[in-house]
Amino acid sequence: MPNGYSVGDPILQVKNISLKLGGNQILRDLSFDIIDILRAGSTTGQIVGLLGPSGIGKTQLFRILAGLNTPDAGEVLVGHPGKPVQRGMVGVVAQHYPLFEHRTIWSNLMVAGAHSGKPQADRERRANDLLERFKLADRKDHYPAQLSGGQRQRIAIGQQIMCSEQFLLMDEPFSGLDCVALDAVQELINEVTHAHELNTTIIVSHDIAAVCEIADQVILLGREPDENGKQIPGAKVMAKYDLGEMGLAWRKGITTDPDFVRLLEEIRQRFPLL
Ligand SMILES: Nc1ncnc2c1ncn2[C@@H]1O[C@H](COP(=O)(O)OP(=O)(O)OP(=O)(O)O)[C@@H](O)[C@H]1O
Ligand SMILES: [Mg+2]
Repeated sequence: MPNGYSVGDPILQVKNISLKLGGNQILRDLSFDIIDILRAGSTTGQIVGLLGPSGIGKTQLFRILAGLNTPDAGEVLVGHPGKPVQRGMVGVVAQHYPLFEHRTIWSNLMVAGAHSGKPQADRERRANDLLERFKLADRKDHYPAQLSGGQRQRIAIGQQIMCSEQFLLMDEPFSGLDCVALDAVQELINEVTHAHELNTTIIVSHDIAAVCEIADQVILLGREPDENGKQIPGAKVMAKYDLGEMGLAWRKGITTDPDFVRLLEEIRQRFPLL
């Protein structure tokens, strides 16, 4: 194997998911697996990007992966041996960053941490670390309404990191961040994911560059053309990129690598066709 890595057991299996809403086919017989990636000498979690244009069905798929919605057909299995996903198995950062409006920032983080079952001292250390990292330590006694959109987003991500165990699912975590905040969120996702071998973060997004920079696997969602070139309704997996195998994962400064730049261009080219 290139880059000294090998694959282990499946961690998440998405099997033949179909969904119709209001008479429209949104997802059509969609399947993919996420497999544990092993690298000798290092703990390697999985960061998987689910990319697709606006309206393709990413948020709908996200809700099914998180066990929040049930598809019309198909199933999502978590872990090995696979168990059907249920609400609460997967940490979820939603697209609109819901927070408890009547609680302070600190209290928002601590409530989330209470679900983790970790000792109080650990939770407080983690929350303080998150606030430092997100440059929000001086805001811990503020309420969500007193934060900017980007600050809310960082707290919403922090909440899920406080409470999630192995799986973290994020819907558009990079939208609306300036480049400093984007770096901080990417670094945090990297750190949290690679803290444990079986940790898996799935990022649902249309931000090709921000996702590819930290992902080791990228799945492109789109619609297949029929024999006349007309799109068949319902999203499917159109391509899978294994960035680990391509030598484009787990490296700092990857953004200037010519192969990486070519990959972004290839994905961009495919986007409007989806
Ligand atoms: N309750 C609903 N009833 C009918 N159609 C719906 C409903 N909710 C979503 N849809 C449709 O399902 C499709 C997929 O929506 P979804 O929110 O999953 O897109 P998305 O890929 O997440 O888009 P974005 O990148 O803009 O967030 C859209 O065409 C949307 O209009
Ligand atoms: Mg969406």
